[in-house]
Amino acid sequence: MKGKVWQQRLSRPLHPAIHALNRSLDYDRRLWPYDLQVSRVWVQALERAGLLSAGELLAISGGLESIREELAAGKFAFSDDDEDIHMAIERRLEELIGSAANKLHTGRSRNDQVATDLHLFCRESGEQVSAALREVIAVLVVLAEAQASQPFPGHTHLQQAEVLSLGHILLAHATALRSDTGLLERTASDAMAACPLGAGALGGSPVAVDRHWIATELGFAAPAPNSIEAVSSRDCALDLLYALSRLGVHLSRLAEDVILWSSIEFGYATLDDATATGSSLLAHKKNPDVFELARGKSGRLIGHLTGLLTTIKGLPGGYNKDLQEDKEPLFDSVDTALGLLAALKPALEGLTFHSARIVAALSPQLKAQRLVAYLVGKGLAFRQAYGVAGALVSRAEKEGVALEALDLDVFQEESELFGADVLELLHQPWVVPDEGVYGGSSVKSVQEQIKELQGWLG
Ligand code: ARG
Repeated sequence: MKGKVWQQRLSRPLHPAIHALNRSLDYDRRLWPYDLQVSRVWVQALERAGLLSAGELLAISGGLESIREELAAGKFAFSDDDEDIHMAIERRLEELIGSAANKLHTGRSRNDQVATDLHLFCRESGEQVSAALREVIAVLVVLAEAQASQPFPGHTHLQQAEVLSLGHILLAHATALRSDTGLLERTASDAMAACPLGAGALGGSPVAVDRHWIATELGFAAPAPNSIEAVSSRDCALDLLYALSRLGVHLSRLAEDVILWSSIEFGYATLDDATATGSSLLAHKKNPDVFELARGKSGRLIGHLTGLLTTIKGLPGGYNKDLQEDKEPLFDSVDTALGLLAALKPALEGLTFHSARIVAALSPQLKAQRLVAYLVGKGLAFRQAYGVAGALVSRAEKEGVALEALDLDVFQEESELFGADVLELLHQPWVVPDEGVYGGSSVKSVQEQIKELQGWLG
């Protein structure tokens, strides 16, 4: 086998610029463990179908094992002529075991081969990202435990809305990320639903291999039911890119919170020095680059998803070389997510919260909620109580004072239900209530959420 395997079909060698464009080896070499796994099972299937002798099977399997050792040790010599990892392995096999190697590709196409490799990659990567994500969630749960009773401004429209538990807010992020682990794991398992191997170039392998046996041997639930779809589909890559995009969006929202909290204006939190960066010009600066990159890289993750969707959307049936463009975005998204999670773990661990600053930032007008509860407690309907509290906030605002600085007669002008105890109520410090509805911001509910997450983390 000299030069390219398909060279005999064409009268002239491939133009070097086209070879360079066509070649995917630089990035698809990382598929080698899956490619070898696929080939090991393929030759066994050929032997079972009577297409390889026991001796040939032994020779090829032995050669594949030597190749595995060379690749694992970084000692595999790639050639400039190798078009992709599949061709490189086949070329090396011939060098190692001679002509028996020429039977490896019997009844197989790189179309079903690469699709199968990719499914195995998606399974492993989905599980790997999910495991790394669990470690980040565990850090959020530890932070939430320490901050369960820390009052914190909860926003809607970025306006202060309610006093919440800071632990509750941290758990909101943990809960979204937990759901991402579920999506990643489902994506990993979906990738193993239907095995492309044996689909051949597109119409099904021309040799009578047992596709059910192959699927089981490779850990799939079943063989892909339609050979054309099996080689045309990149659903496993799209699904993983979506799961990674959603994870990126959730990490970005978490990052945005931390970026705001660590600004001088907010001052709610500081980053550990080992996780912050400085400025080349401004001596005072301490920057949350890690969180900004988490926010920024979500754009890249979404871009890879939309990029591959766009690549695939107009393709005619069967394999098209466009599909080779699946790998770089997919690999980059997996690496990006793993890199982010590895960096966010210490960055979150290193956060220090500043209770006094947080409490000082709570608007006194948030106590209007206490007025509503007070009046409702005295039998006033909620809507009316809201009206009274709103009028009092408006009066305090006009006078430029806090709600609790208004005189008792002002309260009583708005409603005769107010007694002197209303001022006492307003002067009580901010606390996270002990009890409250399931899933809400009370200390009890936050602790329940923590327990639940701890149980899940194991
Ligand atoms: N390197 C190719 C890819 O990743 C392998 C499949 C090539 N198939 C073909 N018919 N040329 O898509």
